[in-house]
Amino acid sequence: MNKNSHTPLFLEQIITLLRERHADKVIDCTFGEGGHGLNLAKLGYTVLGIEWDKEMFDVGQHNIKEAKTEKVKLTLGNYKDVAVIARENHFDPVDAIIFDLGLSMYQLEHSSRGFSSQRQGDLDLRISLLLRESAKDWLNRTSRDELTDLITRYVEDKRSTILSRKLLQVREKKPFTKLDDLRKVIMQITDDEKEATKLLRQTLQALRIVVNDEMNNIKQGFSGGLTVLKKDGLLIFLTYHSLEDRLVKRLGQASRSELKPVQKVIMNKDYPFARSGKLRIYEKIN
Ligand SMILES: C[S@@+](CC[C@H](N)C(=O)[O-])C[C@H]1O[C@@H](n2cnc3c(N)ncnc32)[C@H](O)[C@@H]1O
Repeated sequence: MNKNSHTPLFLEQIITLLRERHADKVIDCTFGEGGHGLNLAKLGYTVLGIEWDKEMFDVGQHNIKEAKTEKVKLTLGNYKDVAVIARENHFDPVDAIIFDLGLSMYQLEHSSRGFSSQRQGDLDLRISLLLRESAKDWLNRTSRDELTDLITRYVEDKRSTILSRKLLQVREKKPFTKLDDLRKVIMQITDDEKEATKLLRQTLQALRIVVNDEMNNIKQGFSGGLTVLKKDGLLIFLTYHSLEDRLVKRLGQASRSELKPVQKVIMNKDYPFARSGKLRIYEKIN
């Protein structure tokens, strides 16, 4: 694998399930560096990759070229359009669809769009730069009610009310531009470094969800994916925080007439960088 690639979570478990079902065609909806898609292609699976971030798309293309494989085709797009993308590429029906939600290590370590609470950067947070509104634009123009609602819903912390109040006060004086502006607000709320980092991470996550419309992408990706999946095919989700995990669980329950959970949810124990990682797999039953 390319030196930039991170070790993908749950690859072994996914391969075992695909082998048991004699799968061939797989859509990797979150191609990133190719940790899942490229490894599956190397094992002989035919893969259609989707990636929304142009920078990651270029990394993915580079890794595909290095791997010298013709088994994978990468497309630039949003996985909420997975059904259209599959049909446009004459790639349906498929045996499995993988959603490895969130961001890649590469984005956290290299992007200047403010994705990582550990680094400096612009308060941008757009996964696709084709989106019109960045996090700072949203934060500076959104209504008091919308901001309070977002923070209370998505920052699951007892200090969420004080956080939204502070954000509103600060932007009255000076618009937000950098990640550091947000960091400073949070340091006014707690001087415990560990707690501040956690609160900053959750606030960034909340802003990222709204800027990229992530919950809606997951909903549409889930239902669109179902329409291009073969009977007995697998819908595979890797989730990293409770908000997205609860949504996937709810979508699975609401589709009980078409899907059944394949096995119990598998928790990640292997990689400290993604301790909250969970694997949820559904099989299409009709
Ligand atoms: C956790 S990483 C996936 C890593 C990949 N499985 C690997 O092993 O290299 C998630 C990837 O999905 C991409 N992504 C996020 N939202 C997306 C969306 N709505 N449509 C397509 N790709 C998306 C991100 O840019 C990122 O590259």
